[in-house]
Amino acid sequence: MPLSPNISVMLKAARKAARGLSRDFGEVENLQVSRKGPADFVSNADRRAEEIIYEDLRKARPDYGFLMEETGTHTGKDTSHRWIVDPLDGTTNFLHGLPQWCISIALERDRTIIAALIYAPLAEEMFIAERGQGASLNDKRLRVSARGRMSEAVLACGIPHFGHGDGERFIGEMGRLQGEVAGLRRFGSAALELCWVAAGRYEGFWERGLKPWDIAAGSLILREAGGAITDLDGGDRWMRTGDILATNDVLHQTILARIKG
Ligand code: IPD
Ligand code: CA
Ligand code: CA
Repeated sequence: MPLSPNISVMLKAARKAARGLSRDFGEVENLQVSRKGPADFVSNADRRAEEIIYEDLRKARPDYGFLMEETGTHTGKDTSHRWIVDPLDGTTNFLHGLPQWCISIALERDRTIIAALIYAPLAEEMFIAERGQGASLNDKRLRVSARGRMSEAVLACGIPHFGHGDGERFIGEMGRLQGEVAGLRRFGSAALELCWVAAGRYEGFWERGLKPWDIAAGSLILREAGGAITDLDGGDRWMRTGDILATNDVLHQTILARIKG
């Protein structure tokens, strides 16, 4: 696929931020054993990556607005275009020296995501999509899996943790699914988990309480790869509620029914 001007701008920003993050990730491993731990170091790495992305995108498209995890909303002169950025998705993984983390950048026009990029530098995986143009991983066309049997399906999920989410409700959802599927996973980066459904690596992903920057880019990549996405009532309010089910489409209704209980 030839790169559009928007994707070229996003690529440049993501690659630049990734260089810093990858260097910092190397440092994090050394900091695990220090008494203070790497927490402050990681939040600085996160902020620096956001700054790099912000500066780069702003230079290329001075009038566009922003919604960014660390610094929030920046209103632009052009009120129809907005970048939605998570400079580091999978912070807990990053902090613990686990490799599943990425940079996520989406471009929205009039409230519709039109371009998306998710970059996992350690794996050297670059996921890209444009509305109506399909999705790719390192230039190879992406397609969701064709598995249609629950007994063959692997699902990823977000697990509520200390101070976040409703643990009992999750245990109910998991209990209704676990005996029926081939495997359940928790990877800790919603953006990547959406890309991996898009890449056909497993059949579905659900989580509650996500933020727009966790899912904006991944939702377009998934849809352009032929996947389905709804909220957990089967509706389309997932960007607002942050409760999402993303699947290979074939198994969507079956999984949704189990989650609803
Ligand atoms: C988090 C990750 C994680 C999800 C959390 C998110 P962050 O984003 O996507 O998988 O379970 O709800 O907040 O904090 O690493 O950018
Ligand atoms: Ca983040
Ligand atoms: Ca995130």
